[in-house]
Amino acid sequence: MKANITATAKYLPDRVLTNFELEKIVDTDDEWIRARTGIEERRLVNDGEATSHMASHIGLKLLEKSGKSPDDIDVIIIATCTPDLIVVSTAALVQEKIGAQNAWGFDLMGACTGFIYALETGAKLVESNQYKCAMVIGVDTMSSIIDYTDRNTCILFGDGGGGVLLEPTTQNDGLLDAILQLDGSGSTYLNVPAGGSLRPTSEETVSNKQHYVYQDGKTVFKFAVKKMADVSAEILDKNGFSGEDVKLFIPHQANKRIIDAARKRCKLSEEQVYINIQKYGNTTAGTIPIALDEAVNEGRLEKGDLLLLAAFGGGFTWGSMLIRWGV
Ligand code: COA
Repeated sequence: MKANITATAKYLPDRVLTNFELEKIVDTDDEWIRARTGIEERRLVNDGEATSHMASHIGLKLLEKSGKSPDDIDVIIIATCTPDLIVVSTAALVQEKIGAQNAWGFDLMGACTGFIYALETGAKLVESNQYKCAMVIGVDTMSSIIDYTDRNTCILFGDGGGGVLLEPTTQNDGLLDAILQLDGSGSTYLNVPAGGSLRPTSEETVSNKQHYVYQDGKTVFKFAVKKMADVSAEILDKNGFSGEDVKLFIPHQANKRIIDAARKRCKLSEEQVYINIQKYGNTTAGTIPIALDEAVNEGRLEKGDLLLLAAFGGGFTWGSMLIRWGV
């Protein structure tokens, strides 16, 4: 038995932050951002709106689209690195907001690879035959940890997320394989230095701006280009597929140049790759499920199509997944 994606949904806040608006805040320009990243604009939450609000919207949409009742959800997994609270999982807040009385759940922190990590986790729970329906959501409120005076990071990230329902299938479809990786030696290149148990919040951590994302962009870029391309090619090879077999490649949307490197490595055409980075920037755990929902809505996936996912993120984390589309 395998686990199949039976519904998709997304949520993007309606506030738009364009490159031109960023030009007024930091020393940057639209042309530089577009050329180096592919990003034109990103979305930001409104004041008072947090990760659980976006996740609950996604959860309710998944219920509406699938025709399921909240009681049908057995487990809720939220991939995020920007939970509402340090203690109390986002999954708990979502469980309450959507009224999923029979569900247990938890948050999973895999940074930009979080959604693929969560999908694999949810799939294994469904495949165990103990759980009939898993709600898996990838969502981040990056604006809550971004310093809008730091041009190295503020141009890259946005808020938003998406999710899926996973259910058992006995057909020849569903999640076929995953390769997931973790290398903690990368932790110094991309992180939020304070606010955890190592450096609890203090006046000093706040005045040193240690609650914002720190990134060595060049090192992260080099690692991401290599690892996302390698792991995308590796999963195709491992399963006896080539680029021609792939109907759609949905990569994590961090930088158009990183995506292009993975596409070329897998010998895919531009038409085989889903890119929406220009609209939303990097929403961390949100990018893949947002793109998946858009691709489904645009009719880019039909039953039997082979879907390739790949991501790279802080940790370092990275991975790829192959899915035989079943709905
Ligand atoms: N606007 C204008 N200039 C900028 C800038 C900005 N927002 N940010 C940096 N620059 C400047 C740099 O200061 C540097 O100037 P210098 O040569 O005078 O020192 C110049 O532009 C080139 O910087 P560099 O870091 O070499 O640019 P880059 O081509 O590596 O692009 C990133 C920078 C951040 C876009 C790129 O490194 C990147 O995408 N890294 C990975 C980020 C990522 O994906 N993170 C999430 C992982 S999931």
